[in-house]
Formats: sequence, C-alpha cells, structure tokens
Amino acid sequence: MTTREQNDFLTRTGPGTPIGDLFRRYWIPALKSEEIAEPDCPPVRVKLLGERLIAFRDSHGRVGLTDEFCAHRGVSLWFGRNEENGLRCPYHGWKYDVTGQCIEVPSEPLKSGFCRKIKLTSYPCVELGDVVWAYMGPPELKPPLPNFEWVRVPHSHRFISKRTQECNYLQAMEGGIDSAHVSFLHRHELRSDDLHVGRGAELTRGTDARFDVVETKGGMVIGVRRPAEEGHLYWRITQWIMPFHTMIPPYGENALNGHAWVPVDDENCMTWSFTHHPTRELTAHELGVMRGGGGIHVKLVPGSFRPVVNKDNDYMVDRTAQKAGKTYCGVAGIAMQDAAIQESMGPIQDRAKENLTSTDNGVIMARIRLRKAVEAMRAGREPDGIDPATHAVRSASVVLPETASFHEAAAEALTVKEGVAHTSV
Ligand code: FES
Ligand SMILES: [Fe+2]
Repeated sequence: MTTREQNDFLTRTGPGTPIGDLFRRYWIPALKSEEIAEPDCPPVRVKLLGERLIAFRDSHGRVGLTDEFCAHRGVSLWFGRNEENGLRCPYHGWKYDVTGQCIEVPSEPLKSGFCRKIKLTSYPCVELGDVVWAYMGPPELKPPLPNFEWVRVPHSHRFISKRTQECNYLQAMEGGIDSAHVSFLHRHELRSDDLHVGRGAELTRGTDARFDVVETKGGMVIGVRRPAEEGHLYWRITQWIMPFHTMIPPYGENALNGHAWVPVDDENCMTWSFTHHPTRELTAHELGVMRGGGGIHVKLVPGSFRPVVNKDNDYMVDRTAQKAGKTYCGVAGIAMQDAAIQESMGPIQDRAKENLTSTDNGVIMARIRLRKAVEAMRAGREPDGIDPATHAVRSASVVLPETASFHEAAAEALTVKEGVAHTSV
C-alpha cells in the first residue's frame, strides 16, 4: 500500500525534492538536436524537472541550456537574439554565453566589470544519439556519458521522437513497466500495426500472463510468460534502467523500441520514444510508418510536441471501432492508447487508492528501487543506473523450455553485443 506521503515522495521532482535530487544525478534527455539545428538558430524553451530553461546553439555550434529569464528584469530569453556567440535579451541588450555568463551589459562600461558578476543558472549538455542531454546536478558528481545502444548505433539505424504527456512521469513510466496491459489495451494492434507483427504478436494476445521480476545492477528485468507450444513458454522481457528508461520486448524481425519518461514538471512529462536496430539501417517503410505516427510514435500538432490526438478532443475516441473489435479502448494507435489511459488517472495518480496484484510486481519493484536509490544518494553512495555498463542491455522475446529460468536462459540476449542482432520471436 502506498501512502500519500510515499506518493508525494515518488512523484515530486522539483529542486530539493528527494526524487528531484536523484534525477539530477543522471544525464537527462532535454531536447532533440534538430530543435536547435544550426549555429545562431532561434532559442527553444525547455522545461525539465519543474525548471524553466532556454536552449540555444551559439555561433560556434556549442549548446547552452540556461535559466529562461534574463537576470536584469526577468524577460524570457525565448525572445532573445542569438548572435555572435551569445543570446542577447531584446529588452535592454544584456547578453549571455552558453555557460549563462553575462558577457555584455550595454548600459554599463565594460571596465566596470559589472557583467562579470551576473551569471544565469546553466547546465552542461552533451549531444548523443541525436539528443541533447543535460546534467542538472552538482558539478563534482557529473556522471559518465549515457551508453544505451540506441545512442551508439549510426544515425541511419535509429529513429527518435518525443511527445508531451499530460500527467506525472511515474504513472507514464509504470505503463512502460507493466507489460500485462499489452494483452488488453493493445491487443488489436498486435494484428494491425505494421511494426507489431509476427508469431510473438499472436502469442502476446494470450491473456494468461505470469510475471517474474529480477533485480539487476542498473534496475530490473521483467519477464512475462505466456503459453507457447507444448512444454514451452513465450517470454517477453522488458528492461527498466534507473531512473526512467524502459526497453520494450521486440516482435519478430522488427527493430527494438524503448522510452525515457522525463518529468517536465509534476503534472506533465516528456515521453521520449527510441527505435533502433543494432545491425541494420531502418528501412524506408519503417521510417514511413513511424513518421506517420505508427509503432510507438505519434502524429504531433505541427510546430509542437503535443499529439494530434489529445485530452481536448477526448483522444478522438471511436466507440464504433471499439465495439467492432478494431481497438480495445476506442483510441487509435499504441502510443496514444497508453497516453490516454495514463492521463485518465489524473495529473498525479492517487496511489493510496490503488489495489495491486501480482502483475504489478514490476511497478512495485521500481518504486522500491527509486526509494533505495534516494537512500544510497543520501548516504553518499552512487545511485544505480549511473554506471554506463548498466545501460548496455537489451530487451528480448524468446521461447524457452518450461523449466528454464528466463533470466539465466536469456542472459546473452539481454546484453548488448556489438554487431549481433537482438533476440526476438
Ligand atoms: S530584462 Fe533583459 S536586458 Fe533588461
Ligand atoms: Fe502500452
């Protein structure tokens, strides 16, 4: 049973909160590199863990991520002029470099040294896998770089997207951990979605799913087994890597999929979706499907990261399609089914009212691990999931003899092997 206090503990991510401090120890996906595609391009608003920030790329191509508001009288630097290696506030011309250092205050003589005393909060960034990652924690504790397979493969092997989700990160992430819902919420897409086909998709329609959760160094693996041929079980194995990464078990020849569930503030999150193939380029067909909002990706309102299907239009629910067995909940598309269901819990799910069962073991374990990580951090130890070796893992789907322990039998399949494709049924 989760108390209100525990729920607050797990869901609040602003500065100074336990989970907020914990998340600030990791590299966090902040924006897509293409959002600030060129030197001196327009700045972009970024909100992360409740902090309003501005991202820009200076004349030398360096990325800055600073406080959104000018230190003079608080104007949003979103209106800023990005010119000659700095962002200039359009109100009175104060100018800042990528480290947030004020480098010019036109009203004060340079020799007064006034501008040198002004510095905006700023966070170091690194670009990896077409994503700008930010580190918002204490400078002396900056972790090694992210090492997920999707950031390491060539650009041609990868497709990424992000969408805003109007709910707390935790209930969104818990949807990524709880693979029991796939047999219900997404059961019809397992036939119709182009990127979710094959024998595994058929087996996943079996609703007699049993859960096994095994803790790993970086998080956990969640094995879900369903009946397969005589004497065998079909296992779908999800990875959860601290603090907010999930990897979805693959289907057949399809690429691998994963998410990062990043808090924007306590009532909104950014759902990052990553598709990659370890050993081949994504095909024109796959890219076409994903760009069109298929697979785990969605169609967005142009110029924004808000899905076209959203709360304001009741997720374009189609009751006829629901009755006719075309969709299970009336919403079209796997990603928007998840988003609609998770947003329907309210901005922050009240976990004091929930009733958990054995298929929620992964969700329970994630909550425990997050609490333990906060304790480790407070005791001066390194939280799990910072070590880059813990990122080099894969999800998998396998058929194993009934007697096998999934975690041991699939150990190879659950580790990144450069040049070797993933294991998928
Ligand atoms: S408010 Fe930015 S320069 Fe005055
Ligand atoms: Fe889902």
